[in-house]
Amino acid sequence: MNLLITGGAGYIGSHMVKFARSRGHTVTVLDNLSTGFRDALPTGVLLEGSLLVPEDIRATLASSRFDGVIHFAGSIQVGESMRLPLKYYTENTIGTINLLAGCVEAEVKHVVFSSSAAVYGQPMVDVIDESCPTAPINPYGRTKLIGEQMLADCAVAHGLTSASLRYFNAAGADPAGELGERHDPETHLIPLLLQAASGRRKSFTINGDNFPTPDGTCVRDYVHVWDLCAAHLLAMDYLMAGGATTAFNLGSGAGFSVAEVLAAAKRITGIDFPVEWGPRREGDPARLVASRSKAERVLGWRCEYSQIETIIEHAWAWERKQTGLG
Ligand SMILES: NC(=O)c1ccc[n+]([C@@H]2O[C@H](COP(=O)([O-])OP(=O)(O)OC[C@H]3O[C@@H](n4cnc5c(N)ncnc54)[C@H](O)[C@@H]3O)[C@@H](O)[C@H]2O)c1
Repeated sequence: MNLLITGGAGYIGSHMVKFARSRGHTVTVLDNLSTGFRDALPTGVLLEGSLLVPEDIRATLASSRFDGVIHFAGSIQVGESMRLPLKYYTENTIGTINLLAGCVEAEVKHVVFSSSAAVYGQPMVDVIDESCPTAPINPYGRTKLIGEQMLADCAVAHGLTSASLRYFNAAGADPAGELGERHDPETHLIPLLLQAASGRRKSFTINGDNFPTPDGTCVRDYVHVWDLCAAHLLAMDYLMAGGATTAFNLGSGAGFSVAEVLAAAKRITGIDFPVEWGPRREGDPARLVASRSKAERVLGWRCEYSQIETIIEHAWAWERKQTGLG
C-alpha cells in the first residue's frame, strides 16, 4: 500500500512508519514537528507541513497517489484541553476538517483515524464495547468524537470510508529498541514510572487512592504500540476490501491498577524508586477496560505484545537508552 501518515513523527506515528515499511508498504509523513521528532523517521519520508495550512495538505496529497491516510496528527493532553479548549478544537477539529477536505479533493478513499477511549467519558460498565454510549467529559474527547462524526458524514456524502480506532492506553516501545515514547510534558503512567526508576524524575506520584477499585487506584487497559500498528494495517486492509465506516476499540482487554503497574515496574527494573501520593486528577474515570472482540472478529487482530510485563520491558529498554543506562 502507498500510505500517507499524518503525525508520523510522533510516538505512535513513528512506530507506524517503521511497522508499515517493515511489511513492505510505502509511506509519506506529513508532520509539523510540534511534538514529533525528525530523528524518529527514516530519511526521505517526511514532508514538513501543518494540517492547519490547507496548501500543505494539498501539496502532500498531490505528491503521490495514496491508497489511504492514517491520521495521527493532533494535540493529545486531556488536562491541557480543559485549560485550552480552543487549541484542541483548532488542532484536532479544524486540522481534521482540512485533511478530509484535501482527501475529498484528491479522491483519497480511505482514512484510519486515531480516536480514543476518551469518547466514552465515564462509562458505567466493567468492560467497554463499541455499543457503549459515547459521552466525552473533556474537550480532547469531544474533538475525537467530532472527528468520528465528520468521518461518518464523509462516508455518506463522498464515499470516503474510515475506521476510527479507539485506543485505550497506548504504551511500550519498538521491540527492537530503536523507537519509544518521548512526550514533553509526559503525562502517561508507564514512562513516568520508568523516568522515576532511571532517576530522570525525583519520584512518581500516584493520583488518587480512593477510587472504587480493589486497591483504590485507577484501572486502565494498556495496549502495546506495536500491536496498535498491526491493527492500523488490518483496518486499512478492511477498508480497501470494501469494509464500511465504523469504530473499533483497541485495548488488551485486561485492566491493571496504577498500584499493580507500579509493582510490576519496580519488579522489572529492580529499582525501588520513591513514590508519593497525590490528589485525584479532575475527570479521571475509575476504570477503563476495552472489549477487543470487535477488532478480533472483524479485522482478525490479535495482541502479541500487550502483556503488561512485555510493555514495561520494552519501555524500560527505551528509557535506559535515553538516559545512557543501557
Ligand atoms: N498515546 C496514547 O495513549 C493515545 C491514546 C488515545 C489516542 N491517541 C491519539 O493518537 C494520536 C497520536 O498520539 P501520540 O501519543 O503519538 O502523540 P504525539 O504528540 O507523540 O504525536 C502527534 C504528532 O502529530 C504532529 N502534529 C501535531 N499537530 C500537527 C499539525 N497541525 N500538523 C501536522 N502535524 C501535527 C506532532 O508533531 C506529532 O509528531 C493522537 O491523535 C492521539 O490523540 C493517543
